[in-house]
Amino acid sequence: MRAADIASDITEVLVTEEQIHAKLDEIAAHVAEDYRDKDLLLVGVLKGAVMVMADFSRALPAVVPMDWMAVSSYGAGTRSSGVVQIRKDLDADLTGRHVLIVEDIIDSGLTLSWLLENFASRGAASVEVFALLRKPDAAKVEVPCRYIGFDIPNEFVIGYGLDYAEKYRNLRDVAILAPHVYA
Ligand code: XMP
Ligand code: MG
Repeated sequence: MRAADIASDITEVLVTEEQIHAKLDEIAAHVAEDYRDKDLLLVGVLKGAVMVMADFSRALPAVVPMDWMAVSSYGAGTRSSGVVQIRKDLDADLTGRHVLIVEDIIDSGLTLSWLLENFASRGAASVEVFALLRKPDAAKVEVPCRYIGFDIPNEFVIGYGLDYAEKYRNLRDVAILAPHVYA
């Protein structure tokens, strides 16, 4: 857990903590405006969205309920399998709710498109997506995403909730993982 270990594991910092927080404030203002007459339910996708949910929900000006879902499509590798498994389902009943899915990253888009279909079948009044990061060059399916933090290059990234084999989630910035780590 020495700092020097982390420096040699990344090739570039892509988004700093300061940039993330400024962007979350901006998006929170939009969301507050868009949902001013609606009861909003935030749904975080575990585990990657933990940091973005914590900071984004506190950037909102009002009390807002949140729920969590755990899905898995990656295992220990760096590529999406496209096979989504529910590891923990929602506690909330979505019937009639205005849901905003809070995601760390849209990579291939396979996980979110699966989630959107799944939520639609549960009778939500509306389902929108906020993803902190998106890799436009990695898209295999288009995902309608209302709020986006940053478009980033098609590289495997870590930090601010994002992991490689459960490591690096607690880094404050988002950085590109050095290929030697997973080669
Ligand atoms: P898809 O490809 O289905 O992505 O859009 C699904 C989930 O995979 C994780 N993911 C990543 N995790 N660095 C990570 O640490 C990445 O570059 C990366 N790309 C995808 C993430 O949890 C996403 O929700
Ligand atoms: Mg995720």
